[in-house]
Amino acid sequence: MPGDRDATSGGSRSARWFRKDDLPGFIHRSTLAAAGWSREDLMNRPVVGILNTWSDINPCNLNLRELAQEVRTGVIEAGGIPFEAPLISLSENIIKPTAFPFRNLLSMDAEEVIRAYPFDAVVLLGGCDKTQPGLLMGAASAGVPMIFLGSGPATPRSMTGGPLATATGVWRFVDQMRSGNVSRAEFEAFELGQMGTAGHCSEMGTASSMSSVCEALGVALPGSSLVPATDGRRRIIARDVGRRAAALAAQGGPTPADILDARAFDNAITLLCAVGGSTNVIIHLLALAGRVGVALDLDRFDAIARRTPLIANVQPSGEHLTEKLMAAGGVPALLKALRPLLHLEARTVEGRTIGEIAEAAEIGDGDVIRPLDRPVKPGESLVVVKGSLAPDGAVIKTCAGSPALFRHRGPAVVFEDVQSLADSIDDPELDVTEDSVLVLRNVGPVGGAMPEWGMLPIPRRLMERGVRDMVRISDARMSGTAYGTAVLHVAPEAAVGGPLALVRNGDLIELDVAARRLDLLVDPAELDARRAACAPADARFRRGYRSLYALHVEQADRGCDFDFLRGASRETLPDGLFDGWVGGW
Ligand code: FES
Repeated sequence: MPGDRDATSGGSRSARWFRKDDLPGFIHRSTLAAAGWSREDLMNRPVVGILNTWSDINPCNLNLRELAQEVRTGVIEAGGIPFEAPLISLSENIIKPTAFPFRNLLSMDAEEVIRAYPFDAVVLLGGCDKTQPGLLMGAASAGVPMIFLGSGPATPRSMTGGPLATATGVWRFVDQMRSGNVSRAEFEAFELGQMGTAGHCSEMGTASSMSSVCEALGVALPGSSLVPATDGRRRIIARDVGRRAAALAAQGGPTPADILDARAFDNAITLLCAVGGSTNVIIHLLALAGRVGVALDLDRFDAIARRTPLIANVQPSGEHLTEKLMAAGGVPALLKALRPLLHLEARTVEGRTIGEIAEAAEIGDGDVIRPLDRPVKPGESLVVVKGSLAPDGAVIKTCAGSPALFRHRGPAVVFEDVQSLADSIDDPELDVTEDSVLVLRNVGPVGGAMPEWGMLPIPRRLMERGVRDMVRISDARMSGTAYGTAVLHVAPEAAVGGPLALVRNGDLIELDVAARRLDLLVDPAELDARRAACAPADARFRRGYRSLYALHVEQADRGCDFDFLRGASRETLPDGLFDGWVGGW
């Protein structure tokens, strides 16, 4: 039944709160009279929840208060009632140890807020990396019609004068500083300007990738993802979102389940590959698919990647910032270029199909959005490898790596955790050469909350000799803004007994991207002996959310969601709950 609608009280969810002529109906209406809404309003107008992840400790989301006001205006213009609900805000750069584990907490926050309040539809306001998937996962589970609206990319004010910006600029600056080519004063000047304004990272990092993917999934309005945060056009879009949300609330659909089917996920993965998007999005899409009961695995990503060229010439895999991509037509233009690879009949919350949106789009600068037969780089944007070192899979963003390393055999240099990496990577005595394979473990979802440490730093000694890339392997993630030949999300992770735990310094590791293989070249009998000698790890967290996380988080190849949140929710609020409460009153 679309959107948890209830025929006994007039059809909509909100009718169950407001349209009943009984004591609970009286209490609900009289409570909201204090917020300025009349009995007539509440009984006759659809209700839109605006789920807002604004916080001033999260500058990526700093404009969301302003956008919420515009959404509110749009809802009212279209005859609806807007209510804003503040949710946990996850700042990627500020939260310790990493924002990633709190994605699932935000998703639960969103799901329960939607389910507990009388929303007929919701607008999801996110920006910084984890706020976007957290909101989507929660709303998908709640099953109420929804539209996603991002904060939009920041406008960098870098000191470089070129298109070096936001986090990709930071990584490049750090590399230059470590190799002695940038002064401390230059680095400090860069510090002040690299984010520039409110809004999320401005290259095709995780936030821009996820926002763009929302358009391809069909859960965001066409053209909404890449308009800069400070651009007046974003406010116009926010009002459009409000109006559309009121319409969805009035008609009770389409629901997330109507939009998020297997075709939508195929389209999203195709777009992700075409823009050279963040590997984090792989994890988020796997988790989202799990929420709506769509069978999705890493092999599907690899299959779609094989047929999808990199056509968006944006950083970190290309040259430009997302602002140029928007000027070239944004996601609708990308969809147009990708038409032969898409499910054109897939639905969207806007009302048109993906094919109709693509048909109406125009492609601007042909250097920024390339045709399928003239990609930015040859080969796939991402690759899934499996083998004795990653039985359940690992991923590589090949469009940001070095082809010369895609077939490589080298001795392992192992770091037990992030601290030992930080302590020893620049040790002059470290036994490492440019042929070494850097291995970081115990940073998977259970072992270390999966921080973005997958782009292990190149040892300073090698940096100074001009080495800029090496094969790096970990059970961590990597920032969508980063680059390098990094094998990420190794599953199962070391902390749950994956073979990554068995690697020793000097063991030979072989990466073969073309063959989709990642192997530890150690005799299986020797690995069995090492495994038998491994002591089970002690639980690091014994109380609170972190304990819940460690007990229930799934591995990266399943999206790192909680095992108890998988599967489509069909729960509805029983009326009996109200009856019991009123009896006590
Ligand atoms: Fe928030 Fe990059 S730090 S999107």
